[in-house]
Amino acid sequence: MAQEVRGVIAPGKNEPVRVETIVVPDPGPGEAVVRVQACGVCHTDLHYKQGGINDDFPFLLGHEAAGVVESVGDGVTDVAPGDFVILNWRAVCGKCRACLRGRPWYCFDTHNAKQRMTLTDGTELSPALGIGAFAEKTLVAAGQCTKVDPAVSPAVAGLLGCGVMAGIGAAINTGGVGRGDSVAVIGCGGVGDAAIAGAYLAGAAKVIAVDIDDRKLETARTMGATHTVNSRSSDPVEAIRELTGGFGADVVIEAVGRPETYRQAFYARDLAGTVVLVGVPTPEMKLELPLLDVFGRGGSLKSSWYGDCLPSRDFPLLIDLHLQGRLPLDKFVTETIQLDEVEKAFERMHQGDVLRSVVVL
Ligand SMILES: NC(=O)c1ccc[n+]([C@@H]2O[C@H](COP(=O)([O-])OP(=O)(O)OC[C@H]3O[C@@H](n4cnc5c(N)ncnc54)[C@H](O)[C@@H]3O)[C@@H](O)[C@H]2O)c1
Ligand SMILES: [Zn+2]
Ligand SMILES: [Zn+2]
Repeated sequence: MAQEVRGVIAPGKNEPVRVETIVVPDPGPGEAVVRVQACGVCHTDLHYKQGGINDDFPFLLGHEAAGVVESVGDGVTDVAPGDFVILNWRAVCGKCRACLRGRPWYCFDTHNAKQRMTLTDGTELSPALGIGAFAEKTLVAAGQCTKVDPAVSPAVAGLLGCGVMAGIGAAINTGGVGRGDSVAVIGCGGVGDAAIAGAYLAGAAKVIAVDIDDRKLETARTMGATHTVNSRSSDPVEAIRELTGGFGADVVIEAVGRPETYRQAFYARDLAGTVVLVGVPTPEMKLELPLLDVFGRGGSLKSSWYGDCLPSRDFPLLIDLHLQGRLPLDKFVTETIQLDEVEKAFERMHQGDVLRSVVVL
């Protein structure tokens, strides 16, 4: 029997989001229905609402979530009703060219639920990142559920489902930050701060946080930043070079998603250093760089989708580190809110007032 639950939809481009009744089908083969306990508000949800991702309105928003598996469809063996899980948007297929080469974190054919959730009039919803978890329950592919230690609070666990994993992974997986490295992170929202926490965890000797908002820089220090730079009042490239003996950082992580901050990242890295772009640009943005600088500075320019994470490998590990007191995931939760407060949370995110607002159910 399909169930009716409450969920937050984005009805059309730039229209305010609202709570609607959502119809959640019973799980089909390979699918699971999850009772959502918490779901963080990510900048990508706002991108969806603004039409910056695609035009498949109406969207069922929310994708940084944790909850308990309620029911599973035929053939599901990895998770069972009652399991505490974090939802992921990288349910690897095991068959694409990346998976077959043993690099499943690049999987090019990830799974989502085959059935669609709908409004009560039958209108099909597009779940954000194939998840749609600003809802009391959601339907996903079973592979989108990763079991973790239930001792962790759901509000904290859910954040690993997107932004925090993207940031930690940008540093550790994509950037390959290691002991003794110098790292700079441009943009200290949830994603950038997670990159800072990741760099700290990996043993970086210097972690330089760059933002235009002093409040963000203060928080960045509590995540492990050793130095901070306000790029409104000083040139971040100069500042990063000064803090690194005149050379630039080994790894620079761009967590804003704009051409000007990417350019800063490009010039703030040392020769043969690495730039990691984890911020998501919009379609009209363009970048112009002297090709000779791209060549002459060597190193690598990488993008990081979801922190090149492998949920089955990374989620349980990071939750364990958190429970041992080695990764302050709880600091990312600025406030907990209700389903009908998502629009307000977007506003607060826009004002820079929060790292993460988390809907708890
Ligand atoms: N690659 C991925 O897999 C992935 C996953 C999740 C989110 N993201 C993207 O990461 C980006 C950051 O997400 P978030 O949730 O942390 O957003 P956020 O809005 O919480 O943080 C953005 C931060 O950048 C700062 N900022 C803005 N303009 C700046 C500038 N010119 N110079 C320096 N700092 C500046 C803001 O003050 C803020 O602290 C977004 O583009 C989001 O879509 C990427
Ligand atoms: Zn694959
Ligand atoms: Zn996200």
